[in-house]
Amino acid sequence: MTEPTSSSLDPDDWDSERHQAHAMLDDLLDYVQNLTERPVWQPIPVSVRRSFQENSPCTGQSLEEIHQRFMEDILPYAVGNAHPGFMGWVHGGGTVTGMLAEMLAGGLNANLGGRDQIPVAVEQQIVRWAREWFRFPETAQGIFTTGTSQATLMALWVARVAQWGEKIRQEGVGLHTLTVYAASTVHGSLLKALDLSGLGEKSLHLVDLDESGRMDVSALHVQIGKDRQAGLTPFMVVGSAGTVDTGAIDDLTALATLCRTQSLWFHVDGALGALGCWSTELAPLFQGIEQADSLAFDFHKWGQVPYDAGFLLIRAGSLQRRTFASSDRYLAREERGTAAGEDWPCDLGPDLSRGFRALKTWMTVRRYGTERLGAMMAHTCALARFVAERVSREVSLELMAPVTLNIVCFRHRAEPAQANALNAQIAIALQESGIAVLSTTLVRGQRVLRVALVNHRTRVRDLESLICAVLHLGKRFSTGRIQSS
Ligand SMILES: Cc1ncc(COP(=O)(O)O)c(C=O)c1O
Repeated sequence: MTEPTSSSLDPDDWDSERHQAHAMLDDLLDYVQNLTERPVWQPIPVSVRRSFQENSPCTGQSLEEIHQRFMEDILPYAVGNAHPGFMGWVHGGGTVTGMLAEMLAGGLNANLGGRDQIPVAVEQQIVRWAREWFRFPETAQGIFTTGTSQATLMALWVARVAQWGEKIRQEGVGLHTLTVYAASTVHGSLLKALDLSGLGEKSLHLVDLDESGRMDVSALHVQIGKDRQAGLTPFMVVGSAGTVDTGAIDDLTALATLCRTQSLWFHVDGALGALGCWSTELAPLFQGIEQADSLAFDFHKWGQVPYDAGFLLIRAGSLQRRTFASSDRYLAREERGTAAGEDWPCDLGPDLSRGFRALKTWMTVRRYGTERLGAMMAHTCALARFVAERVSREVSLELMAPVTLNIVCFRHRAEPAQANALNAQIAIALQESGIAVLSTTLVRGQRVLRVALVNHRTRVRDLESLICAVLHLGKRFSTGRIQSS
């Protein structure tokens, strides 16, 4: 048989490929080193957007040409979360270590569904570390996910098996009227998980907040009692280790106690804050997290691991296997050889083929250590307090929520009828200016500017520029409004 020369996709000329690869690496290192010379974000020109509507190519291009296209049309128009001026939503900044880890993982191209390989042992090491960080028992199990959204959905599946056993995997939830409880500020990923899990969004009963913006535990108690009387089956409470809007942390100890006495599954959404446990200063805020039945969190946010790297930790590890394990003819386990090993991650989650997310996390934790990462997180909280203090010194600005962690909600003062529009306008203009990116949210029904200090690169000077720009834009738009009205 004659083989076509093009059947292998390896380079024809390794020397020139190596040269090109080094140029790509250098460009990325330059990008990270010189981030501040760029706008945080910039509007995408129509021509660039259009260029991504081209048809699929039949013939290939050189790596050099593709690299050039990346540098010109992709890199400048990313969302900008690596930049120290990025303070929108909840985005981690990434690190050079994480970037290199992605390259190493890509080169290895490991499939972490299972089999006897050290990459699976790396993931299992992180499971052990996570038990240690969150003081979970030895029997806890865990797995990397795309993010907290996926981890929350998986936690619901595990909790269903905890309630009804494996038969639910064949029979479905049927007509059970399960109810789930969370504070009214809970992240939208819970609703999505309820929808996808078949419980339905209506199974979520929202609980009011207390005066400090946390779930009102006595209101929760009352609601559970009422629901039981009405014939419903209270099933799960979702506590927050940092709400997305303001960073408020629920009283996790009180919620854990209530769940124990009421025989409810206690899930904690730790997407935003859980890794704050790495900081000795912040850890006390998360007291009670160690009692969760399931904990969903993200390394890709405060942990600075490149996207994506979410995680699910389940207290009763055997339940995780009972929820996800399945037997397939061609996936038989053997005593020896490549198919050896009991702990195949495909038995612990919905995915069979899985990438090596663990490597970038493992390398990040090894490179910086949890002490330094924790100190970095505590510093972002100090920066948040700095912003709050700066806001309180400006008569035209107003702090809109207490600062618990690394999120500050404030707004530019205006006539009540105009305040929402003005603040939304400020956010957009600020993003388009390239000086900083913040996002907006609603606090007590009012549109506020929301600064989330997640990026390890952000410095006081970035925050000074932000405040200065908000003041300037607020003045400009307020004047414009007066003139146009
Ligand atoms: C509090 C909270 N929960 C859940 C999520 C969803 O996490 P992910 O984006 O990793 O799916 C987020 C995302 O920002 C969040 O802030």
